[in-house]
Amino acid sequence: MTDTLISPSILSADFARLGEEIAAIDAAGADMIHVDVMDGHYVPNLTFGAPILKKLRPHSKKPFDVHLMISNPADYIHAFADAGADILTIHPEADPHAHRTLQAIRAAGMKPGIALNPSTPAHWVDFLLDELDLILVMSVNPGFGGQSFIPNQLEKIRQLRAKIDAKDRNIILEVDGGVTPENAASILKAGATSLVAGSAVFKGDPSSYADNIRALRKNHTI
Ligand code: DX5
Ligand code: ZN
Repeated sequence: MTDTLISPSILSADFARLGEEIAAIDAAGADMIHVDVMDGHYVPNLTFGAPILKKLRPHSKKPFDVHLMISNPADYIHAFADAGADILTIHPEADPHAHRTLQAIRAAGMKPGIALNPSTPAHWVDFLLDELDLILVMSVNPGFGGQSFIPNQLEKIRQLRAKIDAKDRNIILEVDGGVTPENAASILKAGATSLVAGSAVFKGDPSSYADNIRALRKNHTI
């Protein structure tokens, strides 16, 4: 596969130098910039919100792939559109009106995505597929970087691949959590088209980032 997308998660970047870190992964070959927004309520951790994203926007021209791990994501759609998000992904477990929220995300000029927790079954997307540009499979429980990939999520990736293929719509199938050069090939073989990686990319100093990204792309012709 030559068209695998790599979306490094800045959760593992040096937060005191976020602008430089984003420019570094952009130059190192990232396809998108994965931005993990956490509210300390939906997930047990806090990161940052739209005002910081807006300040980061000029540091890369690559798409900002924004993953909202927050309650009531609909309340923040316009803030993230204004901040320059390109893809806005919500958790349906955090929003009783996910269908409406996805439509509102598209109406605000962004690509809508849905993220499924490890315990959330693939069929949660069944009545959302027509609204979606991205499905994010959480292969760890959300909240922290550096956790281990949960192997049974491979089966969910396969199920989602079949659902997407049956619809014949161009939907990115992204996997987030514990992605490494060792397991990337099996994740892609299961049908993913985009890999999020935090600790595997922000390893060593910025001069290593290009090699780290290349390592995720390697061995993917299956
Ligand atoms: C977890 C986040 C992930 C995380 C991935 O809640 O959504 O994006 O940063 O980090 P690694 O690649 O270290 O598992
Ligand atoms: Zn994420």
